[in-house]
Amino acid sequence: MNICVIGTGYVGLVTGVIFADLGNDVTCVDKIKEKIDSLNKGIMPIYEPGLEEMVKRNVVDNRLFFSTDLHGAVEKAEIIFICVGTPPKDNGETDLSYVEGAAKGIAKSINGYKIVVNKSTVPVGTGDFVRKVIEKNKIHNTDFDVVSNPEFLREGSAIADALSPDRIIIGAPTKQVAVKLLELYATIGRPMLITDVYSAEIIKYASNAFLAMKISFINAIADICELAGANVTDVAKGVGYDSRIGQAFLNAGLGFGGSCFPKDIQSLVHTAEKFGYNFKLLKSILDINKERVPHFVEIIKDKIGELKGKIIGVLGLSFKPDTDDMRDAKSVEIINILLNEGAVIKAYDPVAMENAKKILPAVKYCANAYEVSEGADAIVVITEWREFKLLNMERIKNLMRKPAIFDGRNIYDAERTRKMGFEYYSIGRP
Ligand code: UGA
Repeated sequence: MNICVIGTGYVGLVTGVIFADLGNDVTCVDKIKEKIDSLNKGIMPIYEPGLEEMVKRNVVDNRLFFSTDLHGAVEKAEIIFICVGTPPKDNGETDLSYVEGAAKGIAKSINGYKIVVNKSTVPVGTGDFVRKVIEKNKIHNTDFDVVSNPEFLREGSAIADALSPDRIIIGAPTKQVAVKLLELYATIGRPMLITDVYSAEIIKYASNAFLAMKISFINAIADICELAGANVTDVAKGVGYDSRIGQAFLNAGLGFGGSCFPKDIQSLVHTAEKFGYNFKLLKSILDINKERVPHFVEIIKDKIGELKGKIIGVLGLSFKPDTDDMRDAKSVEIINILLNEGAVIKAYDPVAMENAKKILPAVKYCANAYEVSEGADAIVVITEWREFKLLNMERIKNLMRKPAIFDGRNIYDAERTRKMGFEYYSIGRP
C-alpha cells in the first residue's frame, strides 16, 4: 500500500518506519525542512533504541522516503496518517491547530478516494472536525473517510511497542473502511478491535488516564507506607500479584512526566467538563502527581539541612529511561528548586544532556556518575537508567564528600546500600 504519514515526531516517525518495514511504500512528510534534510542524511531527531537502524534499512530498500512535499505524498497515497503534535493550551484543552493544518493540507491535495487516519492523541469528536475541515477546503469533488487509530507506543521502547502492541484499535465509520486498516496491520498478528470513531478516540485517553491512576495510587500508598513504616515495593508486589490488578505501573517514585500523561489527563478533564461532567478522580490523580516533587525535596532538605553551598549530584535527567526527552521531566522541577535554594548541581544522563543544557544551563554536566559523585554532599536519583543500578557503589562512596543517596525511583536495595556506609533515603520504604 502507498502510505503518507504527516508529522515526523515520535508517533509519525515510528509509524512510518514500521509500515515501511512491513513492506509498504511510505512517505513521511514534515514542514520543517531541516528535520527532513537531516532524516534524509540518516540523522534521527530523537533518541529511540533501534530506530536509526530500521530507518536506514528501509531508506536503502527504497520503501521509506522523507519529504516536505505534502501535496505529492497525499496525491499518491491510499491511506494518510495524521501524526502531528497535539500540545495543551493553558486551560488544559488540546490545541488542534496542527491537526487542522494537516487536514487543510490534505484537502488541497486530495485527488481521489482516500482514508485519512488520526493517529495523534485527539479528543473525542476530532474525527468529525477533520472531516469538516477537509470537506470545506477540498479542491476536488472526491469522497474520503476519517478513521481513528490511536497509538499506544511508549518512548524508549517505541519500535518494540509498535511492532507488538497489546491491541490495535480501529475506529471506523463503516466495516469496509475498517477492513482496509485490518489489511494494513494483518502481518503484525496482534489483537484488533473495531469500534466507532468516538469510542476509539476515548479508548486512548481512558488508557493513559488509567495508567496514570495506577501511578498516583501507588504514590499515595507510598506516602502512607512512609508514615506507617511499611515498604511500598513489597506492598505493590503483593497487590500486583492479583491478576485483576497486575504488577505494571505500580512503581512509586517522583510521579509521571513526559509529553503524554500530564497533558492527556488535563485534556480528558477538559473534555469531561465540556460534556458537563466533573471528573474529580482525574483531578485527584493530577493533584497527587503534583505533590511528588515538593515531597521529595522536603525529604532532601530535612536530611541534609541548609542547601546553600551544598554540592548535589543528580543521576538521570530525561523524563524516563531510554529516551532523551526532557518534556515535563521531574529533573527540571527538582533541579530548579535546589538551585533556587543555593545548591550547586552536577548532573549526568546517558543521552539527555544535550537537550537538558538548553533548559538547565546552570548545571555542571559530567561525563559519568563517578564525576557527578566527586565532592558531592548527596546523590539524587531522578531517572532509573539501567546503568545506575550497576555502578561501583564503593567507588561512588569514596568520591563523595558525604555519602548520602536520595533515591527518587527506588532503584537500590536499602539495607545493602546502608551496609556499604551510605545514608540512604527512598520513596515509601523504611
Ligand atoms: C505513555 C503510555 O504508556 C503509552 O502507552 C502511550 O502511547 C503514550 O504515553 C502516549 O500517549 O503517546 P510514555 O509517556 O512514553 O507512554 O511513557 P510511560 O512509560 O508510560 O511513562 C510515563 C511516566 O510515568 C514516566 O514519567 C514514568 O517515569 C512514570 N511511571 C511509569 C511511574 O512513575 N511509575 C510507573 O510505574 C510507570
